[in-house]
Amino acid sequence: MIIETERLLIRPWRFGDAPRVLDIQSRMEVIKWLGETHPVPMQNLTQARERIARYNARSQQPPLGCWAIEVRETGVVAGSVLLLKLPKAEHGEVEIGWHLHPDSWGHGVATEAAAVVLAHALASGLPEVLALTHVGNLPSQGVMRRIGMEPLGVVDKWYDGPSLVFRADHRSAQRSVDSSGTPETPRGSVRGESGTLPDVPERDPGEAQAHDHDRIPHEEVRPLRRR
Ligand SMILES: CC(C)(COP(=O)(O)OP(=O)(O)OC[C@H]1O[C@@H](n2cnc3c(N)ncnc32)[C@H](O)[C@@H]1OP(=O)(O)O)[C@@H](O)C(=O)NCCC(=O)NCCS
Repeated sequence: MIIETERLLIRPWRFGDAPRVLDIQSRMEVIKWLGETHPVPMQNLTQARERIARYNARSQQPPLGCWAIEVRETGVVAGSVLLLKLPKAEHGEVEIGWHLHPDSWGHGVATEAAAVVLAHALASGLPEVLALTHVGNLPSQGVMRRIGMEPLGVVDKWYDGPSLVFRADHRSAQRSVDSSGTPETPRGSVRGESGTLPDVPERDPGEAQAHDHDRIPHEEVRPLRRR
């Protein structure tokens, strides 16, 4: 899959990106948030190439995948955006995620990439997309909010330890598209297909609600308490 946005190209990883993958994955300030209980910094280019092969293997079942985010103007790869089945998924739950090199933080790159990938996921037929984050990862929660995802609360499933879980479905996507302010309607086009990203289809609210209760039992979600 290749998606173009105003500033970005969402594209498959290439083996030539290995030095950048190594630079990103060797940084504790990035990998400490990626869900490993004991994250280990990447050591060398061989590991980076293996990681790229894994990213591409995970992109073989559309709409799932793990893609490079390239800044069109400079050609610099800012980081990754992904759409994958959650670890230990019981009902095929899919999460969206992102991580950028610190030199690319603070420019709205993650938000721009995530918004189009989320729109593509829902337009491709996924009924909902989740995003999980460490409760202390405020920058990532900012991305989730800006792309119109709704916070549900804290869960202990899927990853070790508590995670704050956000969700988007066709209703939240529609609300996001309808709203005049942030987040903006994602603008992008899938290369090789004519036109822009498909419109978000209308859903029967009753159907969506029944689905919500199926997915995450309420007793598994608790409110976030900040001190
Ligand atoms: C999570 C992560 C991708 C967020 O990066 P980010 O730069 O804060 O997010 P965005 O790319 O959406 O940029 C938003 C910031 O850019 C600013 N910005 C500048 N130009 C912008 C634009 N055109 N559009 C939107 N925001 C813009 C925003 O004001 C915001 O800054 P603020 O947080 O100071 O208010 C980054 O912190 C990261 O890679 N962390 C390590 C890995 C990680 O935590 N991954 C997520 C695991 S759940």
